[in-house]
Amino acid sequence: MTGKAPATESMRSEPILRVIHAYEDWIIRTYCWVRFWILRQRFLDEIGQYLPERGTILDLGSGFGLFSLYYAQILPDARFRGVDLSRRRVEMAKRAAVRLGLANVTYEVGDATAWRADDEYAAAYMLDIVHHIDEEFVRPLLEQLQKALRPGGRLIVKEVDTRPRYKRWFTYLLDRLMSSRGVIRYWSADELQRLLEEVGFQVHRHLMVDYLPYPHVLYICQREE
Ligand SMILES: C[S@@+](CC[C@H](N)C(=O)[O-])C[C@H]1O[C@@H](n2cnc3c(N)ncnc32)[C@H](O)[C@@H]1O
Repeated sequence: MTGKAPATESMRSEPILRVIHAYEDWIIRTYCWVRFWILRQRFLDEIGQYLPERGTILDLGSGFGLFSLYYAQILPDARFRGVDLSRRRVEMAKRAAVRLGLANVTYEVGDATAWRADDEYAAAYMLDIVHHIDEEFVRPLLEQLQKALRPGGRLIVKEVDTRPRYKRWFTYLLDRLMSSRGVIRYWSADELQRLLEEVGFQVHRHLMVDYLPYPHVLYICQREE
């Protein structure tokens, strides 16, 4: 495991501020600020420590590109590829990458439910995406990701657990605020870990302890060497 991300704890971290200011729309800047405020530098470092310094890294469900724009600054020798269903979000992410002068990140429109292994990836991550995908498509997607990773490569999944229930409801209300329609299917940590193992990953999971009522769980899934 590597630990390249700066060990700052605050929202004043330069790469975070650069990402926030790269969006033209103040609503997106506010969303981005809130999202980073929720996850904070500690969580960015916690996720970032599992990313390789080189190779292609897939950000599936990249949204406005917050994370790939952040990690592309921290890991300049890696190439980030963001894929999201929303054309609007992809366009915003592309414009923000240009404003940041980042040449190591690209964005495209794509549907995770139809995603196929199309390259060899050093790593991939899905942050708060699995619960937006219809249950029947989750296993095939994980199988494709397993196939697409190079031996020893990692898939990092951040999801919310179904317990405790009050935290799940808190998360559900916020999810519905962001997307009034569409799938929301939370997986219990045991259920999702079992599925990840069934498709062939070695899984290490840990809670991301938060003072906000989010039941975040991070799954570090390794493809065998
Ligand atoms: C909660 S947001 C998370 C975005 C980003 N990963 C982050 O953490 O900021 C969920 C994202 O999943 C995307 N999404 C939902 N269903 C998808 C699908 N089938 N394929 C690709 N992206 C999808 C949405 O467009 C949205 O950008």
